[in-house]
Amino acid sequence: ELGPYRHFMQKEIHEQPRAVSDTIEAVIDNNGFGPELFGDKAAEVFDAIDAVKILACGTSYYAGMTAKYWIESIAGIRCDVEIASEYRYRDIVANPKELIVTISQSGETLDTMEALKYAKSQGMEQTLSICNVPESAIPRASKIVYYTRAGAEIGVASTKAFTTQLVALFTLACTLAKVKGRLTAEQEHGYLEELRALPGSVQHALNIEPQIIAWAEKFAPKHNALFLGRGVHYPIALEGALKLKEISYIHAEAYPAGELKHGPLALVDESMPVVVIAPNDQLLEKVKSNIQEVRARGGEMFVFADLDSNFSEAEQVHVIRTPRHTGVLSPIVHTIPVQLLSYHTALAVGTDVDKPRNLAKSVTVE
Ligand code: M6R
Repeated sequence: ELGPYRHFMQKEIHEQPRAVSDTIEAVIDNNGFGPELFGDKAAEVFDAIDAVKILACGTSYYAGMTAKYWIESIAGIRCDVEIASEYRYRDIVANPKELIVTISQSGETLDTMEALKYAKSQGMEQTLSICNVPESAIPRASKIVYYTRAGAEIGVASTKAFTTQLVALFTLACTLAKVKGRLTAEQEHGYLEELRALPGSVQHALNIEPQIIAWAEKFAPKHNALFLGRGVHYPIALEGALKLKEISYIHAEAYPAGELKHGPLALVDESMPVVVIAPNDQLLEKVKSNIQEVRARGGEMFVFADLDSNFSEAEQVHVIRTPRHTGVLSPIVHTIPVQLLSYHTALAVGTDVDKPRNLAKSVTVE
């Protein structure tokens, strides 16, 4: 089953061009976005809502955080994201016009399921599940469903489920924009083209694996790491930190780079590697000045840039470039290097990559 791979995680990382391509197939076949992609009841559901609330746990929660940027900027609809285990136990202000979106690879995560039940009990009837396992509990409890087509994910660390969730959520943002009359034909065409190019861009990002292996050797002996990103790449920094701690047991934290001065900068010294997700976007110049702050404190930086980010290697600053500039889908492409970094670091550390200690693939208890 593993073929040429040593672990399921490695296999699943490398399956992403296929997984992403399968997940966008429906959009490509449809030649555009639209509620029909989300099933028969979707037009009615999308008409009835004016806000989005995303509920999820772990990596799926970070997919939701990324989606907030897309939903608010592309569809112009307010979007909040909340950790399911928090939402389910607090007093909420019910809004029946809120679309409740649960995201779950397994479709069986107890906290996500309970958060969904709680929302329904408070009068939120418009519910969408984004899930990878057909007919699992969460999609069965939801009014409409969008299935990611990652295929079975066996490694405890979520990889291809995450990138396909992002594809589904981008599709949701564009569809909501269309339903609400905010998507011009030209924009729709542009986003479709970006989706079409995505499997190829993911493959290009996988091709930088040899360079990342060299970095992983440097990470393996470390005890701590800091991940930085800004804007839509901040959730990718969070995902990178979660992946690293989950499988290599190295303590890692992620911050929006603008927060450095408000505390975490005190942690930075020569022994703290700092990973920066820095593709060319409107925040790049801000990220660069954040990097200077780290450099001035002796920190060693590992920067994931893209073709357009005009970054140069310098003392204490290592740069790996993803081979294309990928615009609005850049967070999907920049997930690949952080997955590879955690995988190869864990290999160098010698942990049980597919079954990290203390963790289960599907969390069906509290
Ligand atoms: O199956 P789900 O997507 O609901 O699972 C949620 C989390 O348990 C999961 O993403 C977890 O954080 C992963 N092990 C992260 O790699």
